[in-house]
Amino acid sequence: MSEHWWRDAVIYQVYPRSFADADGDGMGDLEGIRSRIPYLAALGVDAVWLSPCFASPQKDAGYDVSDYRRIDPRFGDLDDFDRMLADAHAAGIRLIVDLVPNHTSSEHAWFQAALAAAPGSPERERYHFRDVVDPEVPPNNWQSIFGGPAWTKTDDGKQWYLHLFDASQPDLNWDNPEVHAEFQSVLRFWLDRGVDGFRIDVAHGMVKADGLPDTGGDGTIEMIGTTQAPFFDQDGVHDIYRSWRPIIEEYDGDRIFVAEAWTDSAERRSLYLRPDELHQAFNFDLVLAPFSAADFRKAIDSEIANNAGVGAPCTWVLSNHDVQRHVTRYGGGELGLARAKAATQLLLSLPGVVYVYQGEELGLNEVLDLPAEVREDPTFFRTGGAQIGRDGCRVPLPWTREGSSFGFGANGSWLPQPADWGALSAEAEDGVPGSTLEFYRSAIALRKAHKATGLTWLADPGEDAFAFDNGALVAVVNFGAEPVPVAGYGTEVLLASSPITDGLLPGGSTAWFNK
Ligand code: BGC
Repeated sequence: MSEHWWRDAVIYQVYPRSFADADGDGMGDLEGIRSRIPYLAALGVDAVWLSPCFASPQKDAGYDVSDYRRIDPRFGDLDDFDRMLADAHAAGIRLIVDLVPNHTSSEHAWFQAALAAAPGSPERERYHFRDVVDPEVPPNNWQSIFGGPAWTKTDDGKQWYLHLFDASQPDLNWDNPEVHAEFQSVLRFWLDRGVDGFRIDVAHGMVKADGLPDTGGDGTIEMIGTTQAPFFDQDGVHDIYRSWRPIIEEYDGDRIFVAEAWTDSAERRSLYLRPDELHQAFNFDLVLAPFSAADFRKAIDSEIANNAGVGAPCTWVLSNHDVQRHVTRYGGGELGLARAKAATQLLLSLPGVVYVYQGEELGLNEVLDLPAEVREDPTFFRTGGAQIGRDGCRVPLPWTREGSSFGFGANGSWLPQPADWGALSAEAEDGVPGSTLEFYRSAIALRKAHKATGLTWLADPGEDAFAFDNGALVAVVNFGAEPVPVAGYGTEVLLASSPITDGLLPGGSTAWFNK
């Protein structure tokens, strides 16, 4: 470990509803997670980022929180949380929870109080309410990221309220000191319970431009890969993080904040990582990059340069609960899996932090053919099915070859799993040489034994391929279709994502050599 654990950690994202279901209700829970801590320890991860498990009507799978200090009964209760946290810590695994400060659920006591109160009341001041002038014309042209308008009228038709996401997720007004005080108290509540940090949801969204001006164009904004907008990446958001940093510093244990901040450049993203703000910010550039040496290299160079400027670690990501799984993004099938392993191995040799999304270590693909009646993502409904949404990367994990929901739970799973997922289960892959699970285990173990200290590019081995020295090993990555010669890069192969034959590394593969 470097001086701070979070500068080179491998952090595993658990999506609680789809990880493991201990009580047999078809949805994952905290006890299910606790029962699988030995699996996470064997994988070698340093920490878990747990997507929201707080009280919620689950209109957006828990990113609609109705009580920030309670566990949703579907997942358990605070005692279950404490037990899970204690077991994780006993296994040497830290736990980061997911804080959702941009919006609450419409069932949150504050929003219910706001609806019951009059226009102009202090209760309404905690959110963004505006008078209805013309019932057909909302206060501005902002569109919800999930589709449709970002404004909904109150039942009496007198006011609009703002929601950048679903109508059940009203945006909080961060100009209101009460909102600041409440979230500082929520931070302390979980820090006092012993969590190791927070992933901050929509960390670039809390502050809106003065006067809520129209966006350019028709107001439609994609969150993924977006540019600046009057509701994203406003400079004022940094004041919030400057007020949070001293709070987390009061606690021992080297705890962290990680930002989900979509910005239009690595430079803007690095502003969130100034020494008095947050510790990490996901780099989504590789989520968006095509599988090509030039695109990956550009994203890597830019992240390293910008984060060095603020002294922050790079934070690499290929998959999460919002984007298509990278096996499928890279073409699916054997090719997609080979490329996905190559990309993962590449990430694990870069300097910085690597996030792993549950199931990628099994080689899971995106499930593209879920029927409409089982889908839950509001994106699907708010776009009338035009956008398929994110359910396909949220299908519950297969743990066993056979049995109800392949060992996810005793009574099926909230989304159906593909019939062939038994072969991708943890049981089917455990101890099997060449399985994706064993590949992840070896790669994570080797990464720890060969800690990257930097990155120096070496001569390219081929047209769509690159090589670098990270201070501890030499990595060669072949993005192309044709094999490339690797004899000059080292003699001892530490790990190759596909076998090297006759000194040639196949297309869609990464190899590590001892220095
Ligand atoms: C989360 C999404 C969620 C959205 C609204 C995102 O960034 O990762 O899953 O739908 O925020 O909370």
